[in-house]
Amino acid sequence: MSSNAAHVQIAPSVLAADFGRLAQQAREAEAAGADLLHVDIMDGRFVPNISFGEVVVDAIRSATDLPLNLHLMVHEPDRLLPGLVKETTDQVLVHAEACAHLHRTVGLIKERGNQVGVAINPATPIAAVEEVLADLDIVLVMTVNPGFGGQSFIPAALSKLRRLYGIIRERGYATQLEVDGGIKADATARDSVAAGAQILVAGTAIFNREQSVEAAIDALRGNLAGVTPGEA
Ligand code: DX5
Ligand code: ZN
Repeated sequence: MSSNAAHVQIAPSVLAADFGRLAQQAREAEAAGADLLHVDIMDGRFVPNISFGEVVVDAIRSATDLPLNLHLMVHEPDRLLPGLVKETTDQVLVHAEACAHLHRTVGLIKERGNQVGVAINPATPIAAVEEVLADLDIVLVMTVNPGFGGQSFIPAALSKLRRLYGIIRERGYATQLEVDGGIKADATARDSVAAGAQILVAGTAIFNREQSVEAAIDALRGNLAGVTPGEA
């Protein structure tokens, strides 16, 4: 592993895990050196799919000490925050498109002592987060349209990442960039990191029948050797 690759955080998405042994899969990710556990909450309204809610998030939380990277793909998430967010170690990501009062929602999450992130869909411009950027720990640039695992990476997201990285650097913020969707141990991960991503979410590339969770995480990290975050 190169020293640069060490700065990139790997966040396996449990959406692709075997739910019959969810706790074990969460522990496997932790043992394999994952930095975060990405947890996708879908309401069947903001996105067409429904995943799971509070009860399953609690089960995941009690299976691992990893910080949860909670991706709320839900319309108007404010009402769900008390049930879903229980530890200050949780990172809470809401979608800009799902919040009528994004500034208020960001404030609510920060008040609870959590790190806060805002996610933007492939068709959503950077302007949707610019006015709250100073308050954000993370911006999640979606590299697929949210709702399903196993979709193909949308290359146009790279230009958005590069532009956001430039704005964050220019303003001197510590905001991290995260990518989610279609990330694999190939150019999708390398190009995303080169464009400025510091947190890589991967679902089907990590939880699959072809390799162990450990081998998959190693492959993802190995693939980043020599890539400098933000170099492109
Ligand atoms: C998609 C979810 C992703 C999903 C990624 O809407 O937000 O986190 O699990 O899955 P892969 O890595 O398979 O594209
Ligand atoms: Zn996600």
